[in-house]
Amino acid sequence: MTKKYALITGSSAGIGKEFAKQLAAKGWSLILIARRETKLKELSEQFIKAYNIDCQWLTVDLSDPNANKYIYEFCQTKHLNVSLLINNAGYGVPGDFDTVDWSTHSAMLQVMLNSIVELTHHFYPAMKKAGFGRIIHVSSLAGLTPATAGHTLYGAVKSFLIKFGHSLHLEAKDYGVHVTTLCPGFTYTEFHDVNGTREMVSKLPKGLWMEASEVVRQGLEAVEKNQPIKINGWKNQLIYGLTKLLPDKATRLLLGNNISKFRKR
Ligand SMILES: NC(=O)c1ccc[n+]([C@@H]2O[C@H](COP(=O)([O-])OP(=O)(O)OC[C@H]3O[C@@H](n4cnc5c(N)ncnc54)[C@H](OP(=O)(O)O)[C@@H]3O)[C@@H](O)[C@H]2O)c1
Repeated sequence: MTKKYALITGSSAGIGKEFAKQLAAKGWSLILIARRETKLKELSEQFIKAYNIDCQWLTVDLSDPNANKYIYEFCQTKHLNVSLLINNAGYGVPGDFDTVDWSTHSAMLQVMLNSIVELTHHFYPAMKKAGFGRIIHVSSLAGLTPATAGHTLYGAVKSFLIKFGHSLHLEAKDYGVHVTTLCPGFTYTEFHDVNGTREMVSKLPKGLWMEASEVVRQGLEAVEKNQPIKINGWKNQLIYGLTKLLPDKATRLLLGNNISKFRKR
């Protein structure tokens, strides 16, 4: 029987690394994608030893427009049957729109938007043909809550993912392909160290934070159930519920203003 592979972008750290760990423990073979070679190599060796699975890794910068074709061709050449695609790699860009270089905006759009759509376009058809597939887009609660000043494109890109994921979910559901968009809130990973907001967000109540292991456990459960959208944790679900119940102006004042305090400008 052909082995089933899970391809996870951004699997050198945080949520992606946790997806890799939990899937390896379930016996999935893996293809790990990120830029840091030492991390990927270390993880791959660890998973092969602990779980006796195949674990391939590729050091790729997803901001390179050729990266997605390169990943796809790598899988084709090696006959790696990607049955689970996790579009997870991402980061936040601090600052107001005009204070950030175009090259930084452009790279972010490539990693967190174009690359996700292109990788999905490469791998989805074979899943549909096989009558089995799983796709998880890692979005964010920020894609569902009011816009903020600072980190201008982050919420916009995450909203795009939610709509894109939902449309694909509806198209795929009759073909055995489950598509879930995952919306975590504040999660303990390297994310806030990378974007320089660790000190700001450390002032948030501890109760608002989740462990990456729980976010991932819920994500894997949701894709098995074929839920189109999964908001992690009841507190984040409550926050989303408020955005639905309250008038827009009240939501913007109550939530938008508070979230803005944790955006670096
Ligand atoms: N943590 C949170 O509070 C939170 C909340 C909501 C949503 N999210 C979302 O969750 C996803 C994962 O973030 P995280 O919290 O796990 O952050 P993280 O710990 O910083 O991990 C980010 C991962 O993305 C990879 N990555 C970043 N830029 C890349 C690039 N140009 N090419 C290839 N890989 C790249 C990083 O690997 P390398 O550096 O090795 O390339 C790393 O493996 C993101 O989409 C984020 O928006 C996070």
